[in-house]
Amino acid sequence: MSELVVVSDAEGLAAEAAQRFAAAAATAITERGRFVVALSGGSTPGPAYEQLASEPLASQVDWVRVFVLWGDERCVPPDHPDSNYRMASLALLDRVPIPRKNVHRIRGELDPHDAAASYRRELRAVLGADGRIDLMILGLGTDGHTASIFPGTIAVEERKRDVVAVYVERLDAWRVTLTLPVISAARQVMFLVTGAGKAAILARAYAGEALPAGLVQHRDGKLTWLVDSDAAGGLRNDEAW
Ligand code: 6PG
Repeated sequence: MSELVVVSDAEGLAAEAAQRFAAAAATAITERGRFVVALSGGSTPGPAYEQLASEPLASQVDWVRVFVLWGDERCVPPDHPDSNYRMASLALLDRVPIPRKNVHRIRGELDPHDAAASYRRELRAVLGADGRIDLMILGLGTDGHTASIFPGTIAVEERKRDVVAVYVERLDAWRVTLTLPVISAARQVMFLVTGAGKAAILARAYAGEALPAGLVQHRDGKLTWLVDSDAAGGLRNDEAW
């Protein structure tokens, strides 16, 4: 089942998301000895990452057993201002004792198709026989995209490859993205949505419109829409959808 959790504001959402990250990490590490998380890019998750890098949560997470992936990446070098890897490194990864070998960035500096092929191999190696991400953190674009699965792109229809390169005409830019099958296979999917600007698209996703974000299912896991009251508009807490 999907659940809708409405929190007061963006700060409250960051705190709730960080706490849920820490709880998911503790559960995965207890059950399987490690926690595999795929981070979202964009601006929304930054404050949650910063909360994870601060006390009390920073010392609650067993970072040595945390393995980090990304849901998508812009096709730019890792030190570029648009890089999702750079954003997460500044907000979180450079501030906690996670072994660098546990951080698996998408190599945005490569040719997009080479980067996607390389990440397909790396993703399979990290996931191993289990094949499942423990926690998939996602955002929601105002056009209904998530990760870099943008409407009208080949990424929406991809059901075989776990990672693809996608040219996004609207942005005139290449992206590398995880695709719906591996996203939907995650044990937990957590969408983070804030701001009145997302209220309309969130309502459309909630109404079941066939938007890329709405196509994220959960094989037998849990899908949570964690939204602030501005984004929720008329939607209310814990409404199944
Ligand atoms: C990215 C993200 C993308 C993002 C949405 C929402 O690389 O930008 O993966 O899917 O989550 O565009 O972005 P904001 O959080 O900035 O609104």
